[in-house]
Amino acid sequence: MNQPLQDIYDGFADAYESKRGKFDLTEILNTFHSRLGQTPGKLLDLGCGAGEPLGRYFIDRDWFVTGVDFSKRMLELAARYTPEMQTIHANICDVEFHESQFNAVVAIYSLFHIPSSHHSELFRKIYRWLLPDGRALFTYATKDYTGFDRFDGYKNFMGRDLYYSHKTPEELYKDLADIGFNIVSRDFLNIGNEVFLWITVSKELAIHCAHPAAGDLKH
Ligand SMILES: C[S@@+](CC[C@H](N)C(=O)[O-])C[C@H]1O[C@@H](n2cnc3c(N)ncnc32)[C@H](O)[C@@H]1O
Repeated sequence: MNQPLQDIYDGFADAYESKRGKFDLTEILNTFHSRLGQTPGKLLDLGCGAGEPLGRYFIDRDWFVTGVDFSKRMLELAARYTPEMQTIHANICDVEFHESQFNAVVAIYSLFHIPSSHHSELFRKIYRWLLPDGRALFTYATKDYTGFDRFDGYKNFMGRDLYYSHKTPEELYKDLADIGFNIVSRDFLNIGNEVFLWITVSKELAIHCAHPAAGDLKH
């Protein structure tokens, strides 16, 4: 029988944390943060791990960060490295928050550990938890990582078989659109030799304004 994922993460939390610098997210975080408005707000980090680099980035910019993770050891490391982060020891699928509570929600390298059959429900909750102008950022596994259009199974990571799950990107986009999200950006990025789909969504609908053709501009 496969060991529960939280136990596996407990086992390699220290090793994971020591190698975390290999995946530099500075550019992604700069872009995401710059579009959230000037005032610090409230961020929810689903699968926060030790709070680095996500929680730390936002805390350093005066945001209030709440992290959710089901690995006790990851949260012990978070208490050491990101003590300002409020942490909740729980499964991402089980947590509940009041409506319109967060300016931003992130799920970085964590959503792919949740069965894809639960993704729509989770996106619906995230939509509810976000403020009207809120945004979410997450990584989604695709064929580039698992080798399959859709996946529901185990893949080796740091010497252990971990559960991964995803739909096709098109099915994901449809789920998000059906919920009411506007897809702001969707990029396949290679970070630390791993390709994932990085998605930013906003609750606010895009305002489509007619841009004059370049030749129409008068000086
Ligand atoms: C690959 S680590 C990523 C940690 C952090 N977001 C980062 O970017 O370094 C995945 C984290 O998600 C957590 N996680 C995975 N599935 C989860 C679930 N269903 N509920 C709560 N935490 C989960 C794991 O315990 C682990 O800390």
